[in-house]
Amino acid sequence: MKDEKVWRIGVAGLGTVGAGLLQFLAERPDFAPAGAKVVVSGVSARSRSRPRPVDISRIAWFDDAAALAASPDIDLFVELVGGSDGTAKVAVEAALAAGKPVVTANKALLAEHGLELARLAEAKGVPLAFEAAVMGGVPAVKLVREGLAGDDVDSIAGILNGTCNFILSEMEKSGRSFEDVLHEAQRLGYAEADPTMDVGGFDAAHKICLLAALAFGGAPNFAAAEVEGIDQVGLIDIHLAHELGYRIKLIASASRGEGGASVRVQPALVPLDHPLAQAGGSLNALFIEGRRTGRIYLQGPGAGAGPTAAAVAADIADVMAGGRRPVFQRPAADLVPLARADSRAETGKAFIRILVKDRPGVIAGVTEALAKAGVSIDSFLQRPVEDSGLVPIVLTTQPTSEAALRDAVDHIADLEAVVERPRMIRLARILN
Ligand SMILES: NC(=O)c1ccc[n+]([C@@H]2O[C@H](COP(=O)([O-])OP(=O)(O)OC[C@H]3O[C@@H](n4cnc5c(N)ncnc54)[C@H](OP(=O)(O)O)[C@@H]3O)[C@@H](O)[C@H]2O)c1
Repeated sequence: MKDEKVWRIGVAGLGTVGAGLLQFLAERPDFAPAGAKVVVSGVSARSRSRPRPVDISRIAWFDDAAALAASPDIDLFVELVGGSDGTAKVAVEAALAAGKPVVTANKALLAEHGLELARLAEAKGVPLAFEAAVMGGVPAVKLVREGLAGDDVDSIAGILNGTCNFILSEMEKSGRSFEDVLHEAQRLGYAEADPTMDVGGFDAAHKICLLAALAFGGAPNFAAAEVEGIDQVGLIDIHLAHELGYRIKLIASASRGEGGASVRVQPALVPLDHPLAQAGGSLNALFIEGRRTGRIYLQGPGAGAGPTAAAVAADIADVMAGGRRPVFQRPAADLVPLARADSRAETGKAFIRILVKDRPGVIAGVTEALAKAGVSIDSFLQRPVEDSGLVPIVLTTQPTSEAALRDAVDHIADLEAVVERPRMIRLARILN
């Protein structure tokens, strides 16, 4: 029988977040509900001999995270290994199967296997909590799942990846290329050695899938998300957007749409005076639009040992206090994966950058291609001819359907004088 005064926890993963959590628990073992104490009774990581910023010499070591997860000597399992499959998944399944509550910061795992894990957790009657998986220290999950349970959220949009936000902010500030700034971010430890999850938009997509599931009452459906990263954003896009009064941000958004939900991550234009444009560096920021509540804005540190460990600790406290809500907004038995809404009828403005050969009649050709697709121009900028004999042109459109915008880009790309596929960046959808 479990002693309600002492909660024995097992922690798998002793990297940035895991070590941060152990440090916090060493300092504040009684942080949770009055009268109960947390004791770390088992840990697991890849390398036992790797130096750690915390003393783990008196904690039981497990080579196998799943063995720790199922150990009779723990009451709660904390998964901080990461990754959608492999060790993290096997260990979380083992803990749930053994009837242990699980706390995790793993957005990839929940976004890709959320439904099956929610079913397992609810079948066993144990909580599976993931506050730290979205926006690190900012309590976005609790806000959407619990705080807004009495509202109907129509849309969510924001900046959910601090690495991309840092890179885009630095490119604009320093005038350096994407590759240059990425290398610096890697040197400073802001970006992983393999940056694909971040700069490819996948990390932000995992997070917005979780928020969409909580907001719209479905199961996360990562496969249905449209994902575009920042690796194709050039300095020229950043500068031209600025001249037109916008800043480029990687925006993750989710909205109710025709036949389901539209869940997207893409570089988008934000007016310079908008709060999302002001959230620079590695900050995260989020707008939530509720039918009754109106607009809510959250901003704060989306990563880092301190903030993320604080969110993990908050979930541990919830579990200790007996919190047992469905993993997503509804019981897992009623959940279906959120279907992908048809986005072709959605309307919005866009920025289209075109690189053309310097010759008479080119502009007329571009205008004709736009007219053929039914797209009207809002503003137009032409830069001086480059040494290569090429001319960059950028235009913004009037509000237009997604289908027409895509047609326009196809028509322009077919023009003989156009040397590369035009680059289209949409105006952030929360602002339309
Ligand atoms: N870093 C953040 O600011 C942040 C913010 C929000 C959410 N998260 C999420 O939190 C989780 C952990 O992130 P992190 O940044 O702390 O990662 P990290 O620094 O890379 O640490 C990962 C830990 O997992 C261990 N590990 C890796 N493979 C393993 C395996 N096969 N078996 C056992 N242990 C294994 C590593 O062991 P070794 O130490 O021995 O190599 C390391 O201790 C991820 O899901 C991440 O998405 C992180």
